[in-house]
Amino acid sequence: MKQYTDPAVPDPLAAIGLVQVSDLHFRDSPGARGFARHEPDDGLAAVLADAAGAVAAATLVVATGDLADLGEPGAYERMGEVLDALPVPVYCLAGNHDRQDALQACLPRPNVHLEPAVRVGNWLMLFLDSNAHGLEPDGDGTYRDRDDRVHAAAQPGLTPIEERRARAILAGTRADHVFVWLHQPPLPQTAPDAQGDSELARLIRDFPKIRAIGAGHLHGDLSGEFEGRPVYVCPSTFFGIDHTNQALDGPGYRTYTLHPDGRVDTEVRIVPGEITDTMRAAPLPGYLADLMAGRITSEELRSLSDTEFEDRFGEPRPMRRP
Ligand SMILES: [Fe+2]
Ligand SMILES: [Fe+2]
Repeated sequence: MKQYTDPAVPDPLAAIGLVQVSDLHFRDSPGARGFARHEPDDGLAAVLADAAGAVAAATLVVATGDLADLGEPGAYERMGEVLDALPVPVYCLAGNHDRQDALQACLPRPNVHLEPAVRVGNWLMLFLDSNAHGLEPDGDGTYRDRDDRVHAAAQPGLTPIEERRARAILAGTRADHVFVWLHQPPLPQTAPDAQGDSELARLIRDFPKIRAIGAGHLHGDLSGEFEGRPVYVCPSTFFGIDHTNQALDGPGYRTYTLHPDGRVDTEVRIVPGEITDTMRAAPLPGYLADLMAGRITSEELRSLSDTEFEDRFGEPRPMRRP
């Protein structure tokens, strides 16, 4: 278990620039698969080209999970190579598609970090592993991935170990403001179990220094509130979902300005170009439309046999799920 020690940092007067990427869904070899006609590498390349100026001016980049689609070690190697070449440090956390053993075996790299937290000026960036529902006790006080992690961890959750670690960091930080990063956003409409008296809700409630929450997982531009703090969801670098119009969208990212007084400004950018044009022209797969509209849960979706899936949606079960 990694420990974090809060350093003494003089309060800066300048605002902090940050770029968030999410849901890279890399595979261990290049190739377009599923309903996206481009490969994850191309989506990330388009995002990084479009965001080059913002990244160069930023203090750090945050990558909020689903770094790999199937959790293959080769996927992390390939993705790590791309992120390692960026001119500013990249901080990663795990999503429901990631496999923790492979992720931890392949990262960190010199410029790509897996840390519980990092202090940036007057702000603390706290990186949570919110995949508790996809983990099971290992018998030695740690947790291993469940075989069905990708489905089981569709909603955010914290293991007791992760909660204790986060509370210790939050209690000890000398930063005035905290930004919490995790994979599954605790929005009421997509994460009903996280509302009310969950570990995550209590954690956020107990630390007034937490100013905002940044997440991924939904592959689109969404925002809302959790325990009175703004929640910002980042598009995917692979394929996007336009949640307003229930349509597919292109790759995108978020930029942030974190002000010394605790204010946060953020903007979403969908990268214009051929990939986005193609995605917007493609029909939204039926199962995704039903998932987004709440007509089926991911649990119910998973329980369908391949035949039942095809009967219901008129299309074969795809390899990819968001
Ligand atoms: Fe996800
Ligand atoms: Fe994803």
